[in-house]
Parts: sequence; C-alpha cells; structure tokens
Amino acid sequence: MTISSILENRLAEAMRSLDLPSDCSPVLKSSTNPKFGDYQANGVIAAAKQLGKNPRQLAKAILNKTDFEGIACKTDVAGPGFINIELDPEFLAGLLGRDETKVFKQTAKKTVVIDYSAPNLAKEMHVGHLRSTIIGDCIARVLEYRGDMVIRQNHMGDWGTQFGMLVAELECHLGAGQNAELALADLETFYQRAKKHFDDDPEFADQARAYVVRLQSGDPHSRALWKQFIDVSVAHNLEIYKQLNVSLTRRDVKPESAYNDQLETLVQELVRMDVAKDDQGAKVIFIDTLANRKGEPSAMIIRKSDGGFLYATTDLAALQYRSKVLKADRILYFIDARQSLHMKQVFAAGRLAELVPPNVRLEHHPFGTMMGKDGKPFKTRTGETVKLAHLIDEAKERAEKLVKSKNSCLSEKNIKTIARKVAIGAIKYADLSKTRTHDYIFDWDAMISFDGNTAPYLQYAYTRITSIFKRANLDLESHSSVIIITEKPEKNLALKLLQFEEIIEQVSFDCYPHVLCNYLYELASAFMSFYEECPILRKDISTEKKESRLELAKLTANKLACGLDLLGIEVMPKM
Ligand code: ARG
Repeated sequence: MTISSILENRLAEAMRSLDLPSDCSPVLKSSTNPKFGDYQANGVIAAAKQLGKNPRQLAKAILNKTDFEGIACKTDVAGPGFINIELDPEFLAGLLGRDETKVFKQTAKKTVVIDYSAPNLAKEMHVGHLRSTIIGDCIARVLEYRGDMVIRQNHMGDWGTQFGMLVAELECHLGAGQNAELALADLETFYQRAKKHFDDDPEFADQARAYVVRLQSGDPHSRALWKQFIDVSVAHNLEIYKQLNVSLTRRDVKPESAYNDQLETLVQELVRMDVAKDDQGAKVIFIDTLANRKGEPSAMIIRKSDGGFLYATTDLAALQYRSKVLKADRILYFIDARQSLHMKQVFAAGRLAELVPPNVRLEHHPFGTMMGKDGKPFKTRTGETVKLAHLIDEAKERAEKLVKSKNSCLSEKNIKTIARKVAIGAIKYADLSKTRTHDYIFDWDAMISFDGNTAPYLQYAYTRITSIFKRANLDLESHSSVIIITEKPEKNLALKLLQFEEIIEQVSFDCYPHVLCNYLYELASAFMSFYEECPILRKDISTEKKESRLELAKLTANKLACGLDLLGIEVMPKM
C-alpha cells in the first residue's frame, strides 16, 4: 500500500465512524511545502459543504477519531479545514524495510493494449517517429511493472498506394541483377529514386499503378516482392529499437496489412447495422457526437466509391481485434496530436458499431512536435528530416566527449559503452521530462549535460552511490540493515523513496512520463542533500548509523535504477 492510501484508509475509517456519507473522501496529497507537514487531506472542506457543517470543526472531529498511532507524529487543522499530517520517522523507517513486491498486489490487473511507434515502412525511421516510440515504450514498461498484462501493438504502415511504386522500383533493380538486400541498403535513397522515377517516367508510373491493383488482388509475384521490401524495412526498424533500448520486438508487429482480410466483412456489417451509410457510392459513418457548430455530423469515410479502404477502416478493424481477440480492458494510442480528430472519429465509430464493450477504455495520448532551436520542426541544417540512425550516431559522438571530459582514466571500451548509455538516456530523457502534450525544443547542449534535470545527472547520481560502496569495500546488492532516521535529510530521503509507488500509480493512470522524471530528479536531489549533510563513512560515525545510511543509499540507487529502467534508460556502475 502507498503512504497516501494508508493515510486515506485511516481517515476514511474515522469519517465512517462519524456517520459521514460514503461518497465523502479525505483526498490525500503529498505536501509541496514542509510547512504543511508531509501529507495533506483536502477532502473535508467539500464534505462539510455537502453536509452544511463548519469545515474546521468537522476536520477537528475527524482527526479526534483517527487512529494515527505509530503513523503520524503531528497533525493539524489548517486554513479553512485542511488536515496537515507530519509522519513519524519510525513509521517511514519501518515501511522502507517491507517487501515491495506486495505494494500493487491488491489492485485488479488489467489487460492493456498499447499502440505505439508504428512507423510507415516506405521510408527509414526518422525523428517524427521518436516521440511515439519513446513515450509509448515508457508507459508499456510502467504498466508492466505495476502488474498489468501489457500487449504491445506496433501498427506499422505497410500498405497503401506507395507500395505499388516501391515494388515496381524493386522489380527494376532485381531485373538489373541486383539483390533486394543491396537495392534496399538505403531505404531513403531508394524511396527518393522511386518517387523521381514515378514523376519522370509515365510508363513506370503506369506499372506502379498496376502493381497497386495486383497487390490488392493478392497476386503471388507482387506479394513476394512486397514482402521482400517489408522484411528489409522491418529489420531496419528492429535495429533502431535495439539501439534505442526500446522493448518492441518482431512479435509486437501487427501491421496495417494484417487487417486486410477483415475490411470487406467489417464494412458490410457496419452497413447492415446502418452505422455506415451509402453516400455517392462511398460508405460513410456520420458521427453526431462530433458535429460541428452548425450541427453537421462529422463524416468518416470507410470505403471509397472505387472500392478502396482507408487508414480509418484499418483502425476500426484493429480496434475490433484488440477488444474481441486480445480482450483488452484499456487500449492506449500514442500518436501525434495532429491525428486527434482521426482518433476521436475512430473511437466514436467504434462505440456506435459496438466493436468494443462500453466499459473498455479507449485513450488517445497525444504529444506535440519535436522542434529545433529555431522554433521550427527539427530538421537537418539543409532542411531534410533527420533519420533516427543519424540522430543516434551524433548523440553517441557528443556523449563520448562529455564522458571523456568527466573521467579521463576510463578504457576506450568502457567509454564506448558508457557513451552509448548516456547518449540514448539523454535523447529519451529530454523528451520524456517535458509535458507530453506540448511541442518541445530539441537541444543537444541542454540534454547531454550533467547540469540540471537531465539523464546524465541522474546516471551520475547513481554512480556516486556505487562508488561509496566501492570505497567502503562493500557489495551494494547484498547490503541490508535496519534504518534509523534522526536527521531531517534522512527523513526527506526516506519519504521520497516511499513515494515511488504513488508516482507509478499516477503515471499508469494518466500516462505522463514527466511525472516520473520529476520524481527521479527530486529523489536524486534529496540524496545529494542527504549525502552532504549526513556523512556515511566518516570515522566518528557509529556503526549503526553508518549501516543505516548505507541502506538509505542502497535503496536510493535501486529506486534510481528502477525508475530509469522504466524510462528505458540504463545505468552504469561508473562513469
Ligand atoms: N503509421 C501511422 C503514421 O505514421 C501511425 C499509426 C498509429 N496507430 C494507429 N492505430 N493509427 O502516421
């Protein structure tokens, strides 16, 4: 149980014993200002209002009835009726010693489908795919840690008219004796060449269009060419995931084409249900709940008049699969904010067509654009989109310089490993630590730095702790001791350590990774203050104190490593 749920339960018990209605709840929050204790209960004011009572008096009556024995050392009624709670250091010390695996056990596990990354396979992965990949992966890890059953779905774009052109181009290359591997070594160049070919050569353009038709009709030769292209592109993406320490694998790939066979039946069924209507030969879902100001319903085409299906049709089929086959309780989509209307339409249409039971939660978690320092979408100096492979290489180079400047006695091999972790950590953390829904400015200098709220700062805080243990000739992992809290910085650190689970609950619920980043930054800062003010290995420190402080340091290292791992960031014993 988290601290706030322990406090919440005690206060709620008191409220029931005073015969307050069961919908009145204490509403616990950790205090932002130590003046107001460690936690605050703010729910009494609303309860008093509902019952027509004096809030301060009600708060006092509740406090009188609350059993905080061994939990709080001081409580107060403040302002219009807030309850301030200062926790007993011994209570905190005791909680730190408990078995953490039990913390989330009592909440029911959910099956959560997470749709993220989902690059289009026609081109190489570029910065436009970064945010969905990083943010979605963090939330997948957090939910898994919390105990949910997570099913990753990489809805890769592997279908559509572009592939006719690409397959026609591949055909030319193979015809000229090249193998697919070689022809597709650089997907970006290949795409550009195909595009130019298409624009300049009408005969080729016709061929490309013919391939679209043949692909759709399932012609084996075209399908085989298409599959060769897709395989190379998927392999390229998997390599990027590996480099980025992103947990997506081949098993998670469920591309658009996987739904091709269902589209026809789905559209027929929606027409039969009268959810989709015929509109000049096209099949359209009109959504009243998304009507514009003039009252005209929002229209979502699911079949064009030429018979073709659309991105939206595939998304409806995917929704149905995730609900009916995967049995999701929650379906999360990490997609650019520019697709918000599309997602609203898909969700609304999915509800109309009863593709998902009403209790299943459909959540689009949008994010803003990655901007350059000039305030425009992030591009190369010559104005092209930045490929992820290049971004990763540049990050590694920059990180190597930083690591070398900090520690010159590391071996070349060590530097490379550390630089890779620093580089990937920096890219991810810079993104995850900003409020997801805003655009954010990509700034190399700010992210690859030991100063401020950055990945290197947190990774460094971790190595500070491992080096304390090394200096004392002790093993971090196996260290274990009773914790005694006497000093303020010790208490602050203990409290922060114990708030980890509350943060996980919050992030699991609203999927904002920056909340976890801020927490880790505060934890590292609480450790730094503790380390400055409470000597650990100094001669005059009693063994008991030394052991207790080492234990606090160990728990901090573990929480930092665990929290960073949930962000997809690795730590290292030295840097
Ligand atoms: N491939 C799409 C794009 O690059 C993103 C797909 C997101 N997922 C989905 N179910 N629509 O824009």
